[in-house]
Amino acid sequence: MSQSKVFMPGLMTGNVALVTGGGTGIGAEIAREYARLGATVHLASRKREVIEAAARSIAEETGAAVFGHAVDIRDRGQVAACVEAVLSQSGRLDVLVNNGGGQFLAPAETITPRGFDAVVATNLTGTWNMLRAAADAWMLQNGGAVVNITMLTPRGFPGMAHSVAARAGVEALTRTLAVEWAGRGIRVNAIAPGYVASSGLKRYPKELGVLERLASAVPMKRLARREEIAWVAALLGSAAGSYITGQVITVDGGAGLWGDLWPLSDPEGLTAAVPELDPWEDDGGDEG
Ligand SMILES: NC(=O)c1ccc[n+]([C@@H]2O[C@H](COP(=O)([O-])OP(=O)(O)OC[C@H]3O[C@@H](n4cnc5c(N)ncnc54)[C@H](OP(=O)(O)O)[C@@H]3O)[C@@H](O)[C@H]2O)c1
Repeated sequence: MSQSKVFMPGLMTGNVALVTGGGTGIGAEIAREYARLGATVHLASRKREVIEAAARSIAEETGAAVFGHAVDIRDRGQVAACVEAVLSQSGRLDVLVNNGGGQFLAPAETITPRGFDAVVATNLTGTWNMLRAAADAWMLQNGGAVVNITMLTPRGFPGMAHSVAARAGVEALTRTLAVEWAGRGIRVNAIAPGYVASSGLKRYPKELGVLERLASAVPMKRLARREEIAWVAALLGSAAGSYITGQVITVDGGAGLWGDLWPLSDPEGLTAAVPELDPWEDDGGDEG
């Protein structure tokens, strides 16, 4: 049976966790870490075969009880049914990880109304749907912990206008619900990953050279490993984070502080905002 490299065995024994997007990448790694720590884990995403295979493999590797649910987080009926299934199979719901999401890389001027709506529906409204379903059916009465996975939102994120807007919304929700629900015993936090060596990054067109170029833009000169996100999710989802709420924890090797965020070229025909203004005009001949 595999064990956590960081946390004490049994840290999450008796806990029940629901991880959206838990069949692949970062979500699967969070689910695996929770299972290693003794939690019963439920995975939820759209592709039944992916989610069921992941549930089997994590259960085999960790010895934990792991369940899979085919759910589209944009569909409130499916979301409510999923939370009901978790409660009927496991009797409680202590930790919700809102990791399911995604987007397509596109300059803002090419994003269609349909494309914008789809990305917001998944990443912002989908997260809200899960939050409310978990809160209404269990957490408002019994407490719990929520971990939202976002992205680097403080700077501009060219090519990601739809997704960065949605994720900034999730971070605002995180802070707001942390305050509103603290008295209900619910902690709400977020993790903002930088660039993670995960399935999501492999979805971008090869010609952009994302995988090759991003590492050099990170002060630590490498991408994150998925387990480096999972460890923070374990901290926030367990008693280790019992006095942390309303926070966005950035896990990016320093990427958000420096350098190019993303290898998107300038739009064609780009000019300076006021091209006729010479910034050196008034320097008064100062040679210093
Ligand atoms: N990799 C990175 O560098 C990075 C950086 C910052 C943030 N993130 C975010 O972290 C999360 C995980 O990323 P990843 O790299 O592990 O990518 P990934 O493998 O593409 O994970 C996304 C997961 O979300 C699920 N999903 C998508 N739409 C859904 C929907 N409508 N309903 C339910 N599930 C849905 C997908 O499963 P189905 O297709 O089966 O539904 C998939 O398992 C994503 O939200 C991603 O945007 C990633």
